[in-house]
Amino acid sequence: MKQIAILGFGTVGGGVADILADSADLIAASVGEPLALKKVLDLRDFPGNRFESLLTKNFEDILDDPDIAIVVECLGGKTFAYDYTKRLLATGKSVITSNKDLVAAYGAELLELAYQNKAHYLFEASVGGGIPIIRPLTHDLKANRIQEIYGILNGTTNYILTGMTDKGSTFEDTLRDAQQLGYAEANPASDVDGKDTANKVSILASLAFGKHVYPTAIPTEGIRSISDEDISLALSKGYHIKLIGRTTLNDDGSVYSYVAPHLVGENNMLSGVNGVFNGIVVRGDQVGDVMFYGRGAGKYPTASAVVADVIDCAKTIDQPQPPLWVDGAAISEGSEQESRWYVRAGETCNASVFGAFDMISASAFITKSMNQHDFIRALDIFKKTNTVVNALRILD
Ligand code: HSE
Repeated sequence: MKQIAILGFGTVGGGVADILADSADLIAASVGEPLALKKVLDLRDFPGNRFESLLTKNFEDILDDPDIAIVVECLGGKTFAYDYTKRLLATGKSVITSNKDLVAAYGAELLELAYQNKAHYLFEASVGGGIPIIRPLTHDLKANRIQEIYGILNGTTNYILTGMTDKGSTFEDTLRDAQQLGYAEANPASDVDGKDTANKVSILASLAFGKHVYPTAIPTEGIRSISDEDISLALSKGYHIKLIGRTTLNDDGSVYSYVAPHLVGENNMLSGVNGVFNGIVVRGDQVGDVMFYGRGAGKYPTASAVVADVIDCAKTIDQPQPPLWVDGAAISEGSEQESRWYVRAGETCNASVFGAFDMISASAFITKSMNQHDFIRALDIFKKTNTVVNALRILD
């Protein structure tokens, strides 16, 4: 019987404990032996909780317990989680995490540390909540050179934008709902300002291209600038506004990644991805486009991905894998990809500097298809006589 500990008894940690207990038979059948939850670390008290007897406030109770082979880290953040993860891996304990901040910031280092100590460091739940995406990238799509990954990677902002689009709800009301449903980060600014999406893009890019793409190398824009007016102007042309994270491999081997709101056309696969759902499109040179879809946040969807890693780890505990990526990515400042762009000015405007264009209102228009460099050059000229309220890429 393998023994498990959980660090952090919040939304995801609590879900992991429930699944380990409630699906114990299923898990034992899959692993070939039972898994037992032995300890749970949290500084808070949980009187009357079914796992109360397993709770400890002392990390060393877990670190020094030779029977605990697998530790689930659901602390979040980078302070204690980083220190504890390093100490656990250094003693040869495997660590499973949903903590995208940590993987995005220190993945190369922690993967190497795990390998040196014959341990696993697994993080399926760090991207896309319950959607299987890490394992497909590391196993099922291995015959492909990945060319691009893009998608809706944050449940909270997608829930907010869907509420504003479909129900005319306010930003504040939908954010409050998302927090109550356990979708938002402890600090929801991370969701709203796109940082959570940037962490996920960092992990996907690092996995896909084998070199660590740090979040600091990902230009990131959130959804605070999106107003009801943008949403209805976009809708009048059949577009939905979505926060998109994207990473592309350029021909010279450099990687361009970014996070920004986009207008998504009705025929695009991401157009119907609403509410807390995430959708991730992976483009491989052999398979073409593959899309992954499911609940991107929430207690049990995320815990289900964590427990899948626990099962995988328990089954292959003596077969640690070489690091999935290492340092040294070449980062590009832009991409040559062409698209149309949506621009809304603060006043009645003349868009002739963009060449061909389509006016949506007196102050908003859609450009012809152009690459980022040409668009920014035209936008800079436009800004000399106009105020730009929003300039967003279009995914047709
Ligand atoms: N706050 C995150 C989201 C949780 O809304 O997607 C899942 O990573």
